[in-house]
Amino acid sequence: MRVRNSRTAAPAVRRRTVLKAALAAVASPSLVPSLVLGGHAPSNRINVGFLGAGNQSRVELPSMLRLDDVQVVAICDVNKGSYGYARPEHFLGRDPVCEQANAFYAKKLGVGTYNGCAAYADFRDVLARNDVDAVMIVTPDHWHAIMTVMAAEAGKDIYCQKPMTLTVDEGHAMIDAVRRHGRVFQTGSQYRSHAAVRRVCELVRNGRVGQVRRVVSFVPGAPVGPGPGWEPAPVHDGFDYDLWLGPAPEAPYHEDRCLYRFRFILDYSGGQVTNTGAHSNDIVQWALGTDDTGPVEFEDQGAVWPPEGHLFNTAVRTHFRARYANGIELICKTHDPSFGGRFEGTEGWLQYAWREVTSEPESLKDSVLGPDELHLPVSDNHYRNFVDAVKSREDPIEPVEVGHRTTTLCHLGNIAMLLGRKVPWDPATQSCPNDPEAESMLQRPYRAPWRLTG
Ligand SMILES: NC(=O)c1ccc[n+]([C@@H]2O[C@H](COP(=O)([O-])OP(=O)(O)OC[C@H]3O[C@@H](n4cnc5c(N)ncnc54)[C@H](O)[C@@H]3O)[C@@H](O)[C@H]2O)c1
Repeated sequence: MRVRNSRTAAPAVRRRTVLKAALAAVASPSLVPSLVLGGHAPSNRINVGFLGAGNQSRVELPSMLRLDDVQVVAICDVNKGSYGYARPEHFLGRDPVCEQANAFYAKKLGVGTYNGCAAYADFRDVLARNDVDAVMIVTPDHWHAIMTVMAAEAGKDIYCQKPMTLTVDEGHAMIDAVRRHGRVFQTGSQYRSHAAVRRVCELVRNGRVGQVRRVVSFVPGAPVGPGPGWEPAPVHDGFDYDLWLGPAPEAPYHEDRCLYRFRFILDYSGGQVTNTGAHSNDIVQWALGTDDTGPVEFEDQGAVWPPEGHLFNTAVRTHFRARYANGIELICKTHDPSFGGRFEGTEGWLQYAWREVTSEPESLKDSVLGPDELHLPVSDNHYRNFVDAVKSREDPIEPVEVGHRTTTLCHLGNIAMLLGRKVPWDPATQSCPNDPEAESMLQRPYRAPWRLTG
């Protein structure tokens, strides 16, 4: 079993803003109206900071604002605002998102202005605030591990977006940091908190399709981005490109490299396999009851890659096959519908796709579960589930180990597709037996000074 006692030695959390934050708290209305803000005493309220305020913050911010016992006190993004970007409503940035939070609280309190939520350019300044209990990590994937480890070290609980990691080895470091520092961690795979998904997983677990033979996991196709001869562009005003790159390799700036589109470049993400695949394959893992393990073999099935010279370099069409130790075959591929999966067994099949459940025979999907059958843990709101866990100090519905296993499955699929061949995987030792080439792809070097150390 490989042992990875990781401790981040990334640039130290800076303390200089603690005083600034304390003064801001005194001046801000956040101390005053705790009872007005949902009737929760300050001791009962969770102060939350956002690390990353781009596309997905459109979902995450309102979801957290809606919780009466949460107070969003900090919004951090290396992007000041979306001004100048092609689709500003899409890419947001720290100032517009912070304004949204303050406007929400002003309305809730019935006051003209509210400024208890502060904007930050550097996430270390949020981690340095003693009054921040938890962080929402909504940055590109190449930041998830470093931010998680540093947040755990700073004593924060963590809601981290899927895909949990950029590499398999980062998952070990995140698990280690979360457990060593006694933090609560929720992976942002919110379909675990959807009733229809839970029901599909329960039906599969209780044998309604008979013995599962094959699972097909759906993902979308991916774009190729700017073509050969694309030119680097000047960095937009108010955008700290160096801090956006962080641990990723030095690279010339292009708008299509960063906001939202980073997911199609391997330096920052894994394409649709780790994007939508982190959801679809997470449902597979839950339905098969394999949250603490994974397939034992992965094989490329003819994935298609962007032509030479394009900025994007993740699979345009995903197609890999994996095999679990019990013989169940998993096919993950570009498909229409492009999200969800089909569980095929000896007695029929059951499909979940974009919230729609279908089956053969049709009656299968309406099958009623008896009280003595296996029932999965219930969460109907992923954010509520996280905040409840922060309070109870119990694990939420998708703790760090589970997120790690799902993301590992996605990464191994990518590795097999990149190598264009079969890759062995030992889920017990979390290594690629007798395959040093694949093994070497379980981690990546970080650009200095960023690092996760052992
Ligand atoms: N759960 C879901 O259904 C879901 C949906 C969409 C995205 N996501 C995930 O959310 C994450 C963000 O995706 P997105 O679509 O919002 O991308 P995005 O590019 O629109 O937003 C990411 C934001 O993070 C900021 N950022 C980058 N480095 C930073 C740093 N060092 N400090 C602070 N901010 C930094 C960027 O400037 C950007 O505004 C990804 O991991 C993605 O997979 C999850």
